[in-house]
Amino acid sequence: MHKDIDEIVALARERDFYITLNSNLVLYRRRPEVFEEVDLVFTSLDGDEEAHCATRGKGAYDGVLDAIEALVERGKPVVAIQVVQRPDLGQAEGLLQLAEQVGFQIHFQPQCVDTTIVRGSIPESVTSEALREHWSELLAFKRAGRPVASSARYLDEQAHWSDFRVSARSEPGRQCAAGRGFFYIDPLGNAYPCAFTNGLTEPVNLLEEDWRRSFPGTTPCTVCNVGPMLEFNLLFEHPLSASLDALRRIS
Ligand SMILES: C[S@@+](CC[C@H](N)C(=O)[O-])C[C@H]1O[C@@H](n2cnc3c(N)ncnc32)[C@H](O)[C@@H]1O
Ligand code: SF4
Repeated sequence: MHKDIDEIVALARERDFYITLNSNLVLYRRRPEVFEEVDLVFTSLDGDEEAHCATRGKGAYDGVLDAIEALVERGKPVVAIQVVQRPDLGQAEGLLQLAEQVGFQIHFQPQCVDTTIVRGSIPESVTSEALREHWSELLAFKRAGRPVASSARYLDEQAHWSDFRVSARSEPGRQCAAGRGFFYIDPLGNAYPCAFTNGLTEPVNLLEEDWRRSFPGTTPCTVCNVGPMLEFNLLFEHPLSASLDALRRIS
């Protein structure tokens, strides 16, 4: 939908960035050329049509599978993210079968619930114990060679996460890589240590300030199970094994 997306992608390409683009692909047919210079496409599949539309609205599934197939045919690596809201192995299995048939991968991420940028909550009936068990099964899928993009270490961390109603916490003696290894910039140039901390910390506007001078060096939390952030943190904690795991997935 972003009217300047071509310009943004072109600028990133000019600067030699590795470019990933998250899109629900609903408008793919209108602007397939947007993806030409993109290295890796992320999209969303929360399950079959019924499950997907239950969380994302009527019509949200229309054309998405065709778009994924078209991207795969164009040689683009595609990762579809399933937000795990409840333990439902049937949906996970269905997604993995589809991914195997078409040639893409699934990244599983827990539903984040306690920050200003995400809405919704985990239903009362869903316990953390049941979710831990579900994540162990997802790890077993990964170990069995199914097309799971999430790293094994990440899935294992999720399988041991104590309380899924708390996505991030501060632990004495722990430091996370947000702000030093990676950061998040919103469309207005406001930067935060990570996307999750948008709204929890004062932004640094990169059009006016230099991150290295203005970032206070601390983050509001130091341990989290937020999908992309946990993978990033594991990459910094275990650079070699995380890189090998990623290479196996992308190549
Ligand atoms: C930046 S968001 C959305 C990108 C794009 N508009 C789409 O729908 O695919 C990236 C991913 O986060 C997922 N997501 C949305 N709400 C979430 C939540 N509360 N917890 C975890 N992931 C969430 C989305 O489903 C999507 O796969
Ligand atoms: S622990 Fe670090 S990466 Fe995770 S949400 Fe907090 S600041 Fe972001």
